[in-house]
Amino acid sequence: MFSVSFVRSLNAKACLRRVGNLQQQRWNSTEVPYTAIHKPVMLQQVLDHMAPRSGGIYCDLTFGDGGYTKALLDSCDCKVYAIDQDPTAYEKALQLADLDAYRGRLFPLLGRFGQVTKLVCDLNVPKFDGMVMDIGVSSGQLETASRGFSYKLDGPLDMRMFSRGQGMEPKKQEETALLARSISAYEVVNFYSREQLADIIYQYGGDRLSRKIATAIVTARQKEPFQTTSELAAVIQKACPQPRWQRGDDDMVRNSAARTFQAIRIYVNDEVI
Ligand SMILES: C[S@@+](CC[C@H](N)C(=O)[O-])C[C@H]1O[C@@H](n2cnc3c(N)ncnc32)[C@H](O)[C@@H]1O
Repeated sequence: MFSVSFVRSLNAKACLRRVGNLQQQRWNSTEVPYTAIHKPVMLQQVLDHMAPRSGGIYCDLTFGDGGYTKALLDSCDCKVYAIDQDPTAYEKALQLADLDAYRGRLFPLLGRFGQVTKLVCDLNVPKFDGMVMDIGVSSGQLETASRGFSYKLDGPLDMRMFSRGQGMEPKKQEETALLARSISAYEVVNFYSREQLADIIYQYGGDRLSRKIATAIVTARQKEPFQTTSELAAVIQKACPQPRWQRGDDDMVRNSAARTFQAIRIYVNDEVI
């Protein structure tokens, strides 16, 4: 069994070299990214638990569409530092910070939550009175086909939260820095070994059919490299045609493609740190 984080660092550089020799399809998208609005499901519980107070300073480690941030700011006269590694989420936060109701109270930061100390070190924050974290993918990211997060929508194999989508240029220095060290789903799917893929699918997707799925991916890519989310989803679904649980409507339970996409996304974005 490989350690997934070990595999990640070992493979990132090699993949970036190899992908240069392979013609990756450019995705032509005129879509405006990030139109769906994420609905935070535990808003009341988060507020109850954090019990924000006027004068308090809070940190939303995963701003997304700002559901928790807005609720905190609306609840009292507090301040929120809002982090997200997605530049489109960060831009939303900047727009919000410009509204009269939030001016001088909302401080957007572009970066990874694991770097929170570094991100706030020059900002004179005495201490946080509370932090909230809502890890995962936002509805906007998932429903924007050109970001390549969804097995249900046809898009490029990208999945990087810190990318605006294929063909879109970074606008800020922080984005360039995050992108420079990154690999996309394309590299993982087309270059990782069967064992590495199986470990990622098992560890981050919890799929007991991980080896079967990895074998199907490796076999299919021998003909030609995967370019799109639809191609990948079709191969996974063919490898595991029957939903293992017939009841319920939770894709994460019924559908191997949902689990494999989640696994690759977590791996590509190093979401656990
Ligand atoms: C589920 S959404 C958060 C939704 C948010 N609570 C709301 O109400 O709109 C998760 C967000 O976390 C961000 N994210 C995931 N991993 C991150 C990381 N390691 N550092 C910073 N942001 C991250 C994603 O870009 C995404 O916008």
